[in-house]
Amino acid sequence: MTAQIAIDALTEEQAGQELKRLAAELAAHNIAYHTNDAPKVSDAEYDAFKRRNIAIETKFPHLKLPESPTDAVGAQPSGKFRNITHARPMLSLDNAFTEEDVYDFMARVRRQLDISDDTPLRWTAEPKIDGLSLSIRYENGELAYAATRGDGTIGEDVTANAKMIKDIPHKLPAGVPAIVEVRGEVYMAKSDFLALNEAAAKANRDLYANPRNAAAGSLRQLNANVTRERNLSFFAYAWGELSEQVADAQSAVVNLFATWGFKVNPLMISTDNPQEVIEHFNKIGLERSSLPYDIDGVVYKVDDLATQKRLGFVSRSPRWAIAHKFPAEQAITTLLGIDIQVGRTGALTPVARLEPVNVGGVVVSNTTLHNADEIARLGLKIGDRVVVQRAGDVVPQLVSVASSPENAVPFSFPTVCPCKLQTAVVTEITATGEESAVRRCSGDFICPSQRKEHLKFFVSRDAFDIEGLGDKQIEAFFNDDALPINTPEDIFTLATRNTESLQKLENREGYGKTSVKKLFEAIEAKRTIPLQRVIYALGIRHVGQSTSKALARHYGDWEQFRANAQAVADGDQKAIAELTELNDIGTAVVESLAKFFAGAETAAMADNLVKHLNVEASRPVETISSSITGLTVVFTGSLVRLTRDSAKEMAERYGAKVGSSVSAKTDILVAGPGAGSKLKKATDLGVKVIDEEEWFKLVGEE
Ligand code: IVH
Repeated sequence: MTAQIAIDALTEEQAGQELKRLAAELAAHNIAYHTNDAPKVSDAEYDAFKRRNIAIETKFPHLKLPESPTDAVGAQPSGKFRNITHARPMLSLDNAFTEEDVYDFMARVRRQLDISDDTPLRWTAEPKIDGLSLSIRYENGELAYAATRGDGTIGEDVTANAKMIKDIPHKLPAGVPAIVEVRGEVYMAKSDFLALNEAAAKANRDLYANPRNAAAGSLRQLNANVTRERNLSFFAYAWGELSEQVADAQSAVVNLFATWGFKVNPLMISTDNPQEVIEHFNKIGLERSSLPYDIDGVVYKVDDLATQKRLGFVSRSPRWAIAHKFPAEQAITTLLGIDIQVGRTGALTPVARLEPVNVGGVVVSNTTLHNADEIARLGLKIGDRVVVQRAGDVVPQLVSVASSPENAVPFSFPTVCPCKLQTAVVTEITATGEESAVRRCSGDFICPSQRKEHLKFFVSRDAFDIEGLGDKQIEAFFNDDALPINTPEDIFTLATRNTESLQKLENREGYGKTSVKKLFEAIEAKRTIPLQRVIYALGIRHVGQSTSKALARHYGDWEQFRANAQAVADGDQKAIAELTELNDIGTAVVESLAKFFAGAETAAMADNLVKHLNVEASRPVETISSSITGLTVVFTGSLVRLTRDSAKEMAERYGAKVGSSVSAKTDILVAGPGAGSKLKKATDLGVKVIDEEEWFKLVGEE
C-alpha cells in the first residue's frame, strides 16, 4: 500500500492519474463484489476509495472521467441468467459517515425544497440491510418475474430462485394495482449463515465470507432447489413501477406491503424531529449485534411521496434519501508476532499474529500486513497494542498502533526465506527504477513453499481444475510420507504408485475406495488438455490467461512453444523478436519466460509434466471473409445474446479487430442498452453505431 498524497497537495497531473487509478480500482472491486460475490476489500476501504474519488472530482471537476465510478451503480450482470431491463431503474444511495454529513444532507433537502428550518418535514429511518436488492414484478396480482439490480438498468432474471424465498408471496391480494413492483433486500439470517458454513466446513467445501455473499451466491446460482435449502429471507422497503398510487407516504406504502403478505422491517420509524432520526441510528447501532441479520447502517428517506417527487434524482441516487453508515468495528489487542507467508511467485507477505480478540462478533487472530512498507508505515513493533478493524465483511485490518510498551521489539524483515532452504530474499527494482515494496524469495522452484503454492495454483479452476484436488488436499499431500505430491508430474503418476501407498490413501480419513476412484477419474479426465491451460498452469510470472492464450494460438502446439521458449531462454534474437511482436506481450513476459526455461528446475518441471499429458494443439482461428473483415469493432453497453468474450471471438472469426476504446480508427460501435461515454464519443466522431441485432445481420448470422 503506497502512501497517499493529500488531496490539497495533488497537482493537476497527479489528480488526473489518481482518478484513472481509482476508477480502475473501483471497477475491479465492483466486479469482485457484485458479479463474483467475492469482495477483496472491506466495505469501509471501498467507501474510502470512493470518497477520495469524489473529493478529487470536487476539487478538479474538469478532470472527472466520463465513466466516473461516482455515477456507476453495481456491476454488469454475470451472464449466467437472462437479462431483464428494469421498468424503472434500481437506484443506489448516497452515504453519510458522520452526524454532520446527515445534517448537511437534511439542510440540502430543505434548500432544494426552498423551505425554512422550522417548516415540518417528515423522515423515515430504517435499518440498511446487508444483502442484495431484488425487484419483484406482479402483473394482475401474480408474480411475473424477479430481477437482481445488476447495473441498475439491467438485472438478472432470478424468478425461479426468488419463488423459493418464503417471504416472497406468489400472489397478491385482490384489489392491488395491475402492475406492482415490490423492491427490497434478500438476505441470509446470521443463524442460517452459520449453519451453512458449518455444513460447508464438514463437507470440505469453500466457506462464504459473510451472510451477504452467502445470500448473493444462493440467489445467483442456477439451481432453485439450492436457493430453497439456503433459507433466504426478504424485507420489502421500496418499489419500482406501480400502475396506481397506493398511498401518499413512504411509510404508508411499506405498511401496506405488510398487509399484502411481505415482511417489512419492524425497526422503521417516521418522525419530523431530526434529532430523533439520529437517536434511532444510535439505538439501532446498540442493538446491531443482537439483531438476527446483518445491517451496515440506517437509511433515512423523506416520508412524503409528493415531496420525494419534487426532489427527484441526481445521477443514480435519489435526492430524498441517504444511507448513514455505521463506523467499522474496532478492538485493541496485542501484536504477538509477524509471520511471513511465501506466495506462488515468491512474494513474501507479512501476517500479523494477534492475541485473539472479538471484533464485532468475530474472533480475529491474524491480519495481513501486505508488505514491508506497510509495517514501516504503521511503525509496528512486536508487543505493541494495536487497533484491529472489521467492517462487516471480508478481511479484518490492522489500522494503527494504540500504544507501544517500552519492551516492544522492532521487526526486521527477514533477509532469507522462511523455508527450509533459507534462500536469499531480494527487493526488486521496478520498471521506473524504484525499489518495489514487495520482497521476494529468490529460490523459485527450489523453494518448497513456492512449490507448494504453485501446486495449488496448478490444480485451480482456470488451470488444470481437478475436481477433488484443491488447496486442502495439496496441503495434505505435499511432502506426505506415504504418497507425496511434490510436483505437477506427481499428480499424473498418483494412480500408478505402488499398491501399498494406494492402500494407505484408501485408508486415509475422508477417503475410501470410491473417493480414490473418483479422484483418479478426475485426474484422468485432465490428462488431455488444451495447450493454453498447460502454459497458464506452469505459473510463469506475468503469463496470465490471456497471455497463455496468445502464446498457444501463436505457437500452435507444445513442441513449437517449447522449442521457441528455449530459443528465447538461450537469447536467440530472432525468437525474442517473434515473441515481442505478439500482441499484448511486453518485456516482462519475455524476461520471465526466458528465466523460466533457463532455470533447470522449472524447465524440468514442465518437461516432466508434459510427458504424462496429451496436450491438445491450439487450432489457429479460421477467419471467415465477411463484410467486416479488416475493420475495427468496439462493443459497449449490455449485450443480451452474447457475452463479451463470445462477441470478441465472433468478431475475430469474421476477420475484424476488436478495440477496447472508441477512436477515429474505430469502424463500428456495437452498442447495447446502458451504453454511455463510448456511444457519445462514437456519435461525436461519426463512427457507425449499430445494436446487437444489426450486428448479427451484418455478419450474416441472422
Ligand atoms: S432504499 C431508491 N432502503 O442499499 C432507494 N435500500 O446502497 C432504494 N438497502 O441498493 C434503496 N436496506 O440494496 C433502501 N432499507 C433500505 C435498504 C436499502 C438495504 C440497500 C439496497 C440499495 C443499497 C444502496
